[in-house]
Amino acid sequence: MTPTAIILAAGQGTRMKSDRPKVLHTLAGKAMLDYVVEAALAAGCRDAVVVVGSGREAVIAHLARFGPKVKTAVQAEQLGTGHAVRCALPAVDPSAQAALILYGDTPLVRHEDLALLIALGEAPLAMLTCHVDDATGYGRIVRNDAGRIQAVREHVDCSDDERRIREINPGMYHARLDFLRRAVDALVPDNEQGELYLTDIVALAAKEGIADRSAAAETLAGINDRAQLAAAEDMLHARIADRWRRAGVTIRASAHIDADVQLEADAVIEHGAVLRGATRIGGGARIDVGCVLDDVTVAPGAYLKPYTVALSSTIGERAQVGPFAHLRPDSVLDEDAHVGNFVETKKTHLHRGAKANHLAYLGDGDIGEGANVGAGTIFCNYDGFRKHRTVIGARAFIGSDSQLVAPITIGEGAYVATGTTVTKDVPADALAVGRARQENKAGYASRLRSRLASRQGK
Ligand code: UD1
Ligand code: CA
Repeated sequence: MTPTAIILAAGQGTRMKSDRPKVLHTLAGKAMLDYVVEAALAAGCRDAVVVVGSGREAVIAHLARFGPKVKTAVQAEQLGTGHAVRCALPAVDPSAQAALILYGDTPLVRHEDLALLIALGEAPLAMLTCHVDDATGYGRIVRNDAGRIQAVREHVDCSDDERRIREINPGMYHARLDFLRRAVDALVPDNEQGELYLTDIVALAAKEGIADRSAAAETLAGINDRAQLAAAEDMLHARIADRWRRAGVTIRASAHIDADVQLEADAVIEHGAVLRGATRIGGGARIDVGCVLDDVTVAPGAYLKPYTVALSSTIGERAQVGPFAHLRPDSVLDEDAHVGNFVETKKTHLHRGAKANHLAYLGDGDIGEGANVGAGTIFCNYDGFRKHRTVIGARAFIGSDSQLVAPITIGEGAYVATGTTVTKDVPADALAVGRARQENKAGYASRLRSRLASRQGK
């Protein structure tokens, strides 16, 4: 009996004090809601209905990434979690027999816990519970003398005695749909907030018997404000780093690895490095202190020296980058290429063994195998209207402080003399030199000095 998932994400998230819908706030590079949807699918749900309301255009657009498995149902007015489930039911596939009901603001949930919940099986209602030190804000689990769950009492509706209960409702339920339909129909807004509480179905199920299971508190936390969001993100980062450490990656304590990053054994991620998006780091590659990589692929054995910043780029085997290099989108470094300090690249391909070791801007270029680009070289790629390409042949040598005015081609093995402004293509094996000739005036320096001094009356 594979359940369908019903995920509640229509609330405003008032306590976030944000224009953005709460469930789209991110931790470790991914929206809160994505973690919940992914956990539900990984636990074996056949599909999901996400209830959207506040900011629903943004939430619906965001969910498109999951394809047709994830549908949405609109709750136009946020009348409570029970009402949200009512809005979801018409969108549930009629052949489904059971539903896994989750809240969109519990991103630490693990699919393993949900699979155990689903495995509780045939009861009209099964639910997870957990024990916490600080139960503020959570619904409390009310048990009878025999230890059976009788009800969930919301924090605001609790008596003083009930407030002392440390066992809380994390908001993860598995329900038979025949029971669920009956139960949410019967809900009434008889509480402090005047809402239809989903939690009231618990008292309705109590007569028929509730299956329950306790799970670890740190996987079940609900996020209502940004302090809780930050704490949950810390926990996620620790969880992600430990997972990779166990897979053979060295990760220093202060590095941050986002959820969708992939690492290979023997990669080393140093202090303060931040790896985001779909970044991939090959085996034995070293990402040194303070690097920030977003959607970057780093091949095995490459070395990114401290404070390299790279976005949507590819770095080949044994390539070296930085310190203080900036690779902007679509930079490609083949194996053994070097990009050194204060070099900025954009849409530029450095072929195998090409080097630009110091102070350069390399935009919209193609730099051939083994070519050397000297310090201070600028690809003048922009005329104020359009971008133009610079193509440098294999083994060409670009002298320091040259400006290559694109579109321009430097032939294979050609030589550009230091300080040249290149405006005409350079044929293969030619030397381009374009600078004023130097003249030395013998003894002129001391004459110049005395003339300047006498002007100051010395
Ligand atoms: C809820 C539970 C509480 C539990 C806690 C766990 C209820 C009544 N209370 O409280 O027992 O301990 O979660 O984190 O269920 N939502 C809608 N439509 C609405 C209202 C809410 O879709 O009309 C969605 C929200 O977007 C959110 C989720 O339901 O993702 C939970 O709502 P929230 O207001 O955060 O409930 P809590 O007060 O945290
Ligand atoms: Ca909540």
